Amino acid sequence: MSIIIEPFRIKVVEPIRQTTEEERVEILKNAHYNPFLIKSDDILIDFLTDSGTGAMSDRQWGALMQGDESYAGSRSFFRFESVVKKITGFKHIIPTHQGRAAERILFSIMVQKGDIVPNNTHFDTTRANIEFNDAEAVDLVIPEGKIPELEHPFKGNMDLEKLEELLEKYHDRIPLGMVTITNNSGGGQPVSMENIREVSRLLHKYNMPFFIDACRFAENAYFIKLREKGYENKSVLEIAQEIFSYADGCTMSAKKDGLVNIGGFLAMNDDELAMKARTLLILTEGFPSYGGLAGRDLEALAVGLEEVLNEDYLKYRLRTAEYMGERLLDAGISIIRPTGGHAVYIDAKAFYPHIPPSQFPGQTLVCELYKKGGIRGVEIGSVMFGKKDKETGEEIPAPMELVRLAFPRRVYTQSHFDYAIEKIIETFKDRENAKGMKITWEPPFLRHFTAKFEPV
Ligand code: F0G
Repeated sequence: MSIIIEPFRIKVVEPIRQTTEEERVEILKNAHYNPFLIKSDDILIDFLTDSGTGAMSDRQWGALMQGDESYAGSRSFFRFESVVKKITGFKHIIPTHQGRAAERILFSIMVQKGDIVPNNTHFDTTRANIEFNDAEAVDLVIPEGKIPELEHPFKGNMDLEKLEELLEKYHDRIPLGMVTITNNSGGGQPVSMENIREVSRLLHKYNMPFFIDACRFAENAYFIKLREKGYENKSVLEIAQEIFSYADGCTMSAKKDGLVNIGGFLAMNDDELAMKARTLLILTEGFPSYGGLAGRDLEALAVGLEEVLNEDYLKYRLRTAEYMGERLLDAGISIIRPTGGHAVYIDAKAFYPHIPPSQFPGQTLVCELYKKGGIRGVEIGSVMFGKKDKETGEEIPAPMELVRLAFPRRVYTQSHFDYAIEKIIETFKDRENAKGMKITWEPPFLRHFTAKFEPV
């Protein structure tokens, strides 16, 4: 494929600090070998997350000045609302400060103790918000979605047979069904239109509402345009509109495909449910015309949601991950294939076959990448998802040991990616010298954020 250039030029720059490998060895030690504990000033290329880390455009910065900060009836709210309505078609648009706030409100009003909520794969905060209501979050992604090296155009699809089985068996315990586009926890993989349509049909057959976790809806819509028959000549906006037309509502973290640093929303058609959601919103987030955001945030979001549908942008965006994936595969490095929309996921078990899961190969890899290149990624393996056996206290490893390199939107250029690729390959060549890790301290919950490690 010929080179796809960044579809923007740079008007404002933010310097990044160069560090030497010797400095980084020291920084890593002081951060107890946990990149979450490294100061961002000490990071050269930050691939920790694509959430809230994007660059806003000149139009968005201009829109900030037009923010109407009125407590009620703000002009900025109506501008935001009209863009979200144009894309989603939903009747009620409720702003929130980020995705998990929308999730918390939705599940507080819909989910009760003992309920079951199916999804292709629940993101951590979605799962946690469901479990917080003493309900069960069930993942029903297709089996292909769990095999890293297997190529499939829509690895994020829901297993329709399993969904139907669940619906038949437990329909009185299921208050709603969800699909996450793209499927972040499964590698940023897209869901096909056909699958979305079928999930909708099945849920509606049992009179159950269908909600979409829409964080990366534009990336998913563009994958549909590229890969699904019948959509090649449709605009991404039309594809997005069709996706949402099958659903009864959505939760959205606008920190991803909203192209903003903070923001989100909850949307739905049902009047009664919306009334309950707004009541809760007022209690914890704010008045329904700002929901925890400033008027200027809503302005930037309204512009971001239009810009994210630009196909030159989406082509460049998806190509970025694909480009890095191709180069890593050529070097013999195993990744989740095909690459998804927002990240490349390296298989750390295959990278370091000599490091057992009990010594956290993913943690070794995030540390080595930082040491060699100042690059920060995140471990998605036994540190994040490993459990302790309740009786023996022994570690039960996670099914996969992955390292996610997630790409901020419109932030890094091709040479940043080339540099990162070079450093990953260098790390791979030196793999035999890498050592496993042990945990020296951990908190009772969500240990990956603050745990301390040492090389073994
Ligand atoms: N749903 C999905 C699929 C997500 O990826 C995220 C966040 C959320 C919901 C929650 O949104 O952070 O605005 O409250 N994902 C980030 C990540 C944190 O790094 O993947 P939030």
